[in-house]
Amino acid sequence: MSKVLIIGAGGVGGVVTHKCAQLADVFTDIILASRTEAKCKKIAAQLKRPIRTAQVDADNVPELTALLEKEKPSLVINVALPYQDLHIMDACLNAGIHYMDTANYEPPEEAKFEYSWQWAYQDKFEQAGLMALLGSGFDPGVTNVYTAYLKKHYFDEIHELDIIDCNAGDHGQPFATNFNPEINIREVTANGRYWQDGQWVETPPLSIKDTYDFPEGIGPKNMYLMYHEELESITKHFPEIKRARFWMTFGDAYLKHLEVLENVGMTGIEPVIYNGVEIVPLQFLKAVLPDPSSLGPLTKGRTCIGCVAKGIKDGKERIMYIYNICDHEACYEEVQSQAISYTTGVPAMIGAKMMLEGKWMKAGVWNMEQFDPDPFMEDLNSYGLPWTVVELKNTGLAS
Ligand SMILES: NC(=O)c1ccc[n+]([C@@H]2O[C@H](COP(=O)([O-])OP(=O)(O)OC[C@H]3O[C@@H](n4cnc5c(N)ncnc54)[C@H](OP(=O)(O)O)[C@@H]3O)[C@@H](O)[C@H]2O)c1
Repeated sequence: MSKVLIIGAGGVGGVVTHKCAQLADVFTDIILASRTEAKCKKIAAQLKRPIRTAQVDADNVPELTALLEKEKPSLVINVALPYQDLHIMDACLNAGIHYMDTANYEPPEEAKFEYSWQWAYQDKFEQAGLMALLGSGFDPGVTNVYTAYLKKHYFDEIHELDIIDCNAGDHGQPFATNFNPEINIREVTANGRYWQDGQWVETPPLSIKDTYDFPEGIGPKNMYLMYHEELESITKHFPEIKRARFWMTFGDAYLKHLEVLENVGMTGIEPVIYNGVEIVPLQFLKAVLPDPSSLGPLTKGRTCIGCVAKGIKDGKERIMYIYNICDHEACYEEVQSQAISYTTGVPAMIGAKMMLEGKWMKAGVWNMEQFDPDPFMEDLNSYGLPWTVVELKNTGLAS
């Protein structure tokens, strides 16, 4: 008997709600709350079993606390935006509710994300006997669990880790982002950063390029080094890692549009005055770009996200590659959403399931790689994101 309150009725929120609704014995009572309740009702209408919906502004801590105290869920699944993380954690502490999210906190006024703000809640959650699970999406999320799984079963020490996120899908639009455009563009236009011998090396945005030959017929794609939040927690929790990098594939058309938008100032987050009104260029851009949820029925092709790890086992060097391949059209058929939201929403449901079943339950603030990866990996196979692990002769990266 577990009641969950899901916050955020966007692309990811839709998938989490569908997946939780499929598991009626774990998620016995579901409430979907968001800033615009009509979006919650639209998702609810797609489901085979009834759920409840609510309107809430998650940035209004007293309002959210009151909703949590009234509903008394066992867990809040936060799939609103990273800006809401701390407010939702505060409301969970006020009301005595466990917390989970898929993206670390980012201040709205600065394009910067790091775990320090949320890790600072460690004592408060521990003292309240509550758990906060951070980053239970795919990347972060599954990539952290993959790393823990490789370490547990294939390595004594991991020395090099390359997390590679490939979207080989095509939505047929000249330019669109697969999840919230504001969050996506802030991430892609930020400096790259990777971990090397105990320190961060910063690189200009998208300045390091490689090509990877993806498995199962996806083939070679260009990919670019970026900073991604799981690098921070993974290098903290696996201090033996000497180098950790994150790569994402981008097509030439996406990069061409992005370069032009950046050059003309449309990706900026500093407000400008237009006709006497203050507007943030990136927020205006979001308003004119296709809504990511509209891409669901249009997107064809597959994603392939995984980790290449090099290290030692019994004194010998080895390289392992672990990945999932997900088909956009199959996702749409199952939950009316493309694979980017699906690959985030399924691990969010599984993270919640781990907590509610007590398999991962410990007071404090935790990252995914701090728990036993095995039950989570089993559930990935059962609930739509099966994985493959192979031994490689070389990493397949040129650099
Ligand atoms: N770990 C991963 O692999 C991964 C991958 C992709 C995305 N993500 C994360 O997943 C989250 C959701 O992404 P998405 O693509 O689903 O975004 P989205 O489509 O923009 O949806 C966000 C939802 O949150 C709601 N919201 C925003 N501010 C709110 C507030 N103050 N109070 C209540 N609701 C609020 C929005 O409401 P309105 O509709 O009213 O605006 C919208 O329904 C983001 O944090 C994103 O960074 C993680």
